[in-house]
Amino acid sequence: MTNSTAEQMTATPQNFEEGAQRFAGQTVIVTGAGSGIGRATALQILAEGGRVIAVDISHDRLSELESMPSGERVVTVRADVTDEQDIKDVVDSIGDSPIAGLANIAGITDGHRPLHETDDEIWQRVMAVNVDGPFRLTRAVVSRMLAGSGGAVVNVASEASLRGNAAGTAYTVSKHAIVGLTRSAAFLYGSEGIRVNAVAPGPVATGIEGAFASEYSQQRLGPFMRMIPPIAGPEAISASITWLLSAESRNVNGVVLPSDGGWSVQ
Ligand SMILES: NC(=O)c1ccc[n+]([C@@H]2O[C@H](COP(=O)([O-])OP(=O)(O)OC[C@H]3O[C@@H](n4cnc5c(N)ncnc54)[C@H](O)[C@@H]3O)[C@@H](O)[C@H]2O)c1
Repeated sequence: MTNSTAEQMTATPQNFEEGAQRFAGQTVIVTGAGSGIGRATALQILAEGGRVIAVDISHDRLSELESMPSGERVVTVRADVTDEQDIKDVVDSIGDSPIAGLANIAGITDGHRPLHETDDEIWQRVMAVNVDGPFRLTRAVVSRMLAGSGGAVVNVASEASLRGNAAGTAYTVSKHAIVGLTRSAAFLYGSEGIRVNAVAPGPVATGIEGAFASEYSQQRLGPFMRMIPPIAGPEAISASITWLLSAESRNVNGVVLPSDGGWSVQ
């Protein structure tokens, strides 16, 4: 969500604590790593000794990660998560190393459009990026984890996974679908040592488009939006994501964790 505080809340490499080394020796795939929550998650994993496969549709956004002191532990892959060949390239870039974690973070919004103003193009693109992408990449990664020694998958859901008044129709449906993907996979693979959880962020200062493209939605959703908790920095969400990726949460599987300053109890 872009707002005036975004500048001061941007994640910088200095924001991350290097004391803990929860990801030492581990390889973690992070999608959407070029901006916002994905970038903050990649920086946190790097600060804690991990190797990051940083995936984004924009290669320019990934170049900063390569030039960091820990850049030798970053593999950047320009990939569109909706493209099956790109997903194959992501998995191939890892070589034979075990994949310890996958953070499905890349996502797009729908301009808060209501159902009757949602055309097929918007619907299909939001579903492709927010649902098909995590489905395809998780399918590829879980196959590797099943053949190895398990792992952790974290999907980024949304407050729109939990309620009907946080976004437009396509985005709300896509983020509800991510909850289904999370719970189904958590059940199916928990016995194989693969944990699958989701984080549901509230408002976060990132590069994501937060503007209303619909007068109708602005009037219906606007009053609720004015009551939500303060906008968080992306590190607040990466803290939740990395906890679920790490062994600290080893007894947690199939949860949808609101990381929203308490919005979900309003
Ligand atoms: N910012 C918020 O307020 C908020 C709230 C709830 C949930 N989320 C979710 O958090 C996730 C991250 O969003 P953000 O706020 O950090 O946004 P962001 O726009 O700052 O970052 C998203 C990144 O994903 C990349 N991306 C977009 N489409 C892609 C594709 N097809 N393939 C590969 N990469 C692609 C973009 O290039 C961008 O770098 C999204 O899933 C979003 O729905 C965000």
